[in-house]
Amino acid sequence: MSEGERLTELAKRRGFYFPSAGAYGGASGFWTYGPQGAALKSNVEDAWRDRFVVREGHQEISAPDVMPEAVFEASGHLDGFDDMIIECPGCGATHRADHLVEDETDIEEAESLPNEEVMEIISDHGIECPSCGESLGGVSVDNFNLMFETNIGPGSSSPGYLRPETAQGIFVEFPQLSEYARNQLPFGVAQIGKAYRNEISPRKSLVRVREFTQAELEHFVDPEEDEPPLEDVEDVTLPLYSGESQQADDGGVEGLTVGEAVEEGVIASDWVAYYLGVARDWYERIGVDMDRFRFRQHLPGELAHYASDCWDAETEIDGDWIEVTGFAYRGDYDLRKHADHSGEDFTVFKQYDEPVTVERPTVDPDMSYLGPEFGGDAQTVADALEALAERDPDAFEGEEVTVEADGQSYTVPVEETNFSVEEVTENGEHVRPHVVEPSFGVGRLIYTVLAHAYTEDEVDGEERTYLDLPPEQAPTTVGVFPLMDKDGMAEYAGDIADALREAGHSVTYDDSGAIGRRYRRQDEVGTPYCVTVDYESLEEDTVTLRERDSTEQTRVSIDGLAETLDRLADG
Ligand code: GAP
Repeated sequence: MSEGERLTELAKRRGFYFPSAGAYGGASGFWTYGPQGAALKSNVEDAWRDRFVVREGHQEISAPDVMPEAVFEASGHLDGFDDMIIECPGCGATHRADHLVEDETDIEEAESLPNEEVMEIISDHGIECPSCGESLGGVSVDNFNLMFETNIGPGSSSPGYLRPETAQGIFVEFPQLSEYARNQLPFGVAQIGKAYRNEISPRKSLVRVREFTQAELEHFVDPEEDEPPLEDVEDVTLPLYSGESQQADDGGVEGLTVGEAVEEGVIASDWVAYYLGVARDWYERIGVDMDRFRFRQHLPGELAHYASDCWDAETEIDGDWIEVTGFAYRGDYDLRKHADHSGEDFTVFKQYDEPVTVERPTVDPDMSYLGPEFGGDAQTVADALEALAERDPDAFEGEEVTVEADGQSYTVPVEETNFSVEEVTENGEHVRPHVVEPSFGVGRLIYTVLAHAYTEDEVDGEERTYLDLPPEQAPTTVGVFPLMDKDGMAEYAGDIADALREAGHSVTYDDSGAIGRRYRRQDEVGTPYCVTVDYESLEEDTVTLRERDSTEQTRVSIDGLAETLDRLADG
């Protein structure tokens, strides 16, 4: 059994996660978190919130899952959020064409190839439909948009979409959010919430699903002025993977500190470097095995439409590398797009300490005298010149000025334009922030943490499975058992369980079956400590405290038991 299969089997048996709506045959790519999984998920989210929101001094919001079409027209998702689909002419099954190529050939990153090339490779390699074995040679490879469409209100006149990333819920609210931040850059806005992608081929349980939780931070920074506090993380060693391949270990992993990686220019953006440093220690804290972890830079063809640089955090399971987080430098892409499409102001007004007088080129919008070399649309050129004047006054210092308009480039001698230079007093300027985005997939983190915690050993000649989860992440922090249900032991144990719950512990009370089996059940859900009440407890107010990994048992007083457990959990 592979690591993933073994884990999914344990996950179903012990209530971490299972395919949803099984009574009706289910729908591929949808999973329900059971009691243990929901508790683990909320612990991982709390740990994320603690590190990336509270400690960084950022704000958290909660935006709707459904948003109107205009949002995704602006963001580029409506036009470009596609995967390559191929439909089998034999059985009608649909597959991701680039995945078929990657699975059946040595070619990697097939998703960055044009559709026609992928189609050719499928034909040349005689790739067959994985469902029925029919040849897929010559079958068309099409684009499939991954967004789930819906209607807002009755009728179909108001299309809406389930958000494919939580990020857009932050970007569209930027005008409000910057006001709450009193127009002071930098500031960060985070969101933990659902994202939806109608994946062509969901696979590997929680790894590729159609509904999943993201924990995303959009950090808005002034690209000219703001610097990350690199000194806080400069000594953190990052396992940086330098190979060309997404899956093989061809390049090896080099350990560079954040400081070295920035100095040597290995990581282009200081902000991205900062967050890699913060995240590296956080992954370890939640139980990711650092020997099965790396940061990998995106190859140029792999970059999302909005990103100029991106690093992925990847974890190894069953020999495959899984992307658990993307750290992207999104520049001003999103805020610019939303400003252009909505006509609203998506900038921050940066007030100067004192007003300054500047020479500002202005342009008469009537450019008609410039003639037909301007594409016959002088008004558009004027708009472009005006925008350029605002953005880059220096562009007008030379003898000529070049503008892009209507997809063409125009070079105009300055004297032929009707620019004039005016002295104006300014109190500040509009700055369009750049965005640094760490984007975490919570489900993939849970899958990783469970896979990396899964341990088998032998206790008293019997095989045992346990999850060596960090106590902070464990869904249950303590199991409480009466040795037997007689002579008041159950009542005594019940009182202990209540007291521990009151002290904030997550307690499982279990009085059924042999004590060894009760321990095994808690081992399999990663409960770090179990407390057993026996005859001695009734006489001396002590209990046995058993530690999960070593299985060692010690006798401790019930006075201050909650604090004893807290102390042990803190190490
Ligand atoms: N806002 C940026 C963004 O959404 P992404 O790389 O597409 O970037 C971020 O997604 C993270 O979301 C990924 O690193 C991954 O952990 C998770 N994710 C993406 N698609 C997923 C899917 N179909 N199933 C499970 N998790 C997914």
